[in-house]
Amino acid sequence: MTILKTKRLALREFRRDDLEFLVPVLGDPYSMRFYPHPLSPAECETWIERQLHRYESEGFGLWAIDMQDTGAFVGDCGPTVQMVDGIREIELGWHVHPAYQNRGIATEAALACRDYAFSELGLKRLIALVRPENVPSCRVAEKIDMHIEKETHHGSKGWVHRVYVTARS
Ligand SMILES: CC(C)(COP(=O)(O)OP(=O)(O)OC[C@H]1O[C@@H](n2cnc3c(N)ncnc32)[C@H](O)[C@@H]1OP(=O)(O)O)[C@@H](O)C(=O)NCCC(=O)NCCS
Repeated sequence: MTILKTKRLALREFRRDDLEFLVPVLGDPYSMRFYPHPLSPAECETWIERQLHRYESEGFGLWAIDMQDTGAFVGDCGPTVQMVDGIREIELGWHVHPAYQNRGIATEAALACRDYAFSELGLKRLIALVRPENVPSCRVAEKIDMHIEKETHHGSKGWVHRVYVTARS
C-alpha cells in the first residue's frame, strides 16, 4: 500500500519479503553505530513484524522507502508511538541504506512524513529522539524544522537522547 510520494521517493507499508533488503540497512555496523548493536537478520524479521502490528493497531508505523525511478528499496521513515518521560509521543524515525546516504533521502522522506502526519493523521506534535553524537540524524531533524525541547534517557541502554520537536502551525 503506497502511503505517499515525493519527487524521488515512494513510501509504502513494509511486506515480509522486504527482509533481505532491510538486513543491509539495519544490520550495517557502521551505519548503526549509535544503536546498542546492528540488527541480526532474525531481529530484522521481528522489526518488520512490529511495523505490521503497528499498521494494524495505530494505522501508521515505519514505512519502506523506494526510489521511484529504479524501484530500489533505500530505507525507512515514518511515525511510531514512543513513551518519553511517561508521556505518549509520536516519533518520526528514519534509516537509510549506507549506499544511498548523504543524498538528501532521509530529509526528503522525513519532510513528507511530517506533513502527512499533520494533514492526514491529524497529529499536532511530532518528536524525534536522537543521540547528540548522531550528527547526521540531528541534521535531519533540524532540516525539517525541529528544535531541541529537552534531553532524556531513552532506550534499552538509557542513553541520553535529544528530544527534537515540531508542532503543526
Ligand atoms: C541519519 C540518516 C538516516 C541520514 O540519512 P541521509 O539520507 O544520509 O540524510 P540526508 O542526506 O537527508 O542529510 C543528512 C545530513 O547529515 C549529514 N551527513 C550525512 N552523512 C554524514 C556523516 N557520515 N557525518 C556527518 N554528517 C553526515 C548530511 O551532510 C546532511 O546534513 P547537511 O545537509 O547539513 O549537509 C542515516 O545516516 C542513517 O541511516 N543512519 C543510521 C540510522 C540512524 O542513525 N537513524 C536515526 C536514529 S535517531
